[in-house]
Amino acid sequence: MSLSIIILAAGQGKRMKTSLPKVLHPLAGIPLLQHVINTAQQLGTKNITVVYGNGGNAVREKMQHLPVQWAYQEQQQGTGHAVTQALPNIPADDQVLVLYGDVPLISQETLTHLLTATKNNALGILVAERENPTGYGRIIRDRAGKITAIIEQKDATPEQQQIKEINTGILTTTAKNLKTWLPQVSNKNSQDEYYLTDVVALAVKEGCEVIGVKADCAEETQGVNDRIELAHLERYYQQQYAKQLMLQGVTLLDPKRFDIRGELVAAKDVTIDINVIIEGKVTIGSNTKIGPNVILRNVQIGENVEIKANCVLEDAIIENECAVGPFARIRPGTKLGKKVHIGNFVELKKTEISDNSKVNHLTYLGDAVIGKNVNVGCGVITCNYDGVNKFQTIIKDGAFIGSDSQLIAPVTIGENAYIGSGSTISKDAPADKLTIARAKQVTLEGWKKPIKKTFI
Ligand code: UD1
Ligand code: CA
Repeated sequence: MSLSIIILAAGQGKRMKTSLPKVLHPLAGIPLLQHVINTAQQLGTKNITVVYGNGGNAVREKMQHLPVQWAYQEQQQGTGHAVTQALPNIPADDQVLVLYGDVPLISQETLTHLLTATKNNALGILVAERENPTGYGRIIRDRAGKITAIIEQKDATPEQQQIKEINTGILTTTAKNLKTWLPQVSNKNSQDEYYLTDVVALAVKEGCEVIGVKADCAEETQGVNDRIELAHLERYYQQQYAKQLMLQGVTLLDPKRFDIRGELVAAKDVTIDINVIIEGKVTIGSNTKIGPNVILRNVQIGENVEIKANCVLEDAIIENECAVGPFARIRPGTKLGKKVHIGNFVELKKTEISDNSKVNHLTYLGDAVIGKNVNVGCGVITCNYDGVNKFQTIIKDGAFIGSDSQLIAPVTIGENAYIGSGSTISKDAPADKLTIARAKQVTLEGWKKPIKKTFI
């Protein structure tokens, strides 16, 4: 039987107090809904339908790149009504799994467990124990322990409200069952809503088995209703990720002060100091050290590299044994060869630097190609932009650029060329020669030190 997944994401999220649709709020840098879609995809189905409504097209547009179908629920008339909107997308002999767009951390393992426990024609419900079950639908069982109904908080008697076993909302059964049961669900309840949970009583009436599978981890089934819950899940996610990294051989100096908003592949003996933020796809080779307050976004870092404190690196490749920072900014399109040294207050943009070259202080290199064994002195600037177009600077192997020089692109500095300090280089500088382009030094005779004047 193939699997179809319905993700409910039409709710408003009043308690978030937000103009951004709730399911688009990020957790670990990714919208809540995208977490659920990613997990749904891991279950190996191509048929995923998201029911959307509140926030309308904003939700669809943000998720455009993901291969899902969309079902519009114009008015939020309850979870049963929401599932009904998606049913036309689903073949009658599919197994259906219902997920929630605001329950972001549900795991593939738990869902697989629910799906395998739900045999044949049964109805499988993911249940949980809550110390404080307020707000949840309660699981009603008969004397034999079989589930007979789910009663919503607002419809529950005081006795039923004592029950701590709750409905997480996630359930599975055949499309055929849902297509039979949902049209029978009424909205005669305290919220005038069509409750998905009412299918339980209908299943029982038909003699269809109702299976409750317990979710062990509270955070996995926790929904996001306000920003406090969102922050709690964010911290939980970060902690879990940090634990995984440590188990794989990464040292985190303080796992509580490490944030991942993407994916990190780190080899053994990587050390990450405090307040490091990882975004997008980042890989780090063995024995590399990342200093405190570093931001790494879509970067590939080799082995035995040291990224010192307070650096920001984005869309860059850093090869083995480089040293970067402190306080360096490595912008998109930068590639550092082996043993390159980048020092403090250096900004690099779309710049390739080959092995053993050094750019150690207060420098901007943009749109540049730098050879091997080059030394770029302090305060060197590539003037790469004329206000309209960008131009390239090429510095060949072994060149030495004296401090406080400006290289006006397009310009090429030849192999082993030596540029005198303070030069403004606007023409190519030949190989193996000293080029200086600055005003000659003069000393004026007859100069007198100014004296303080008294004005009336
Ligand atoms: C629902 C369950 C309750 C369960 C709880 C778990 C029902 C009737 N109740 O409660 O048993 O304990 O979830 O959190 O199912 N949604 C729509 N369209 C709608 C209504 C809701 O798409 O018309 C979506 C929401 O965006 C949300 C999910 O369905 O993702 C659940 O809705 P919500 O109102 O939060 O759930 P409750 O009614 O509180
Ligand atoms: Ca509701």
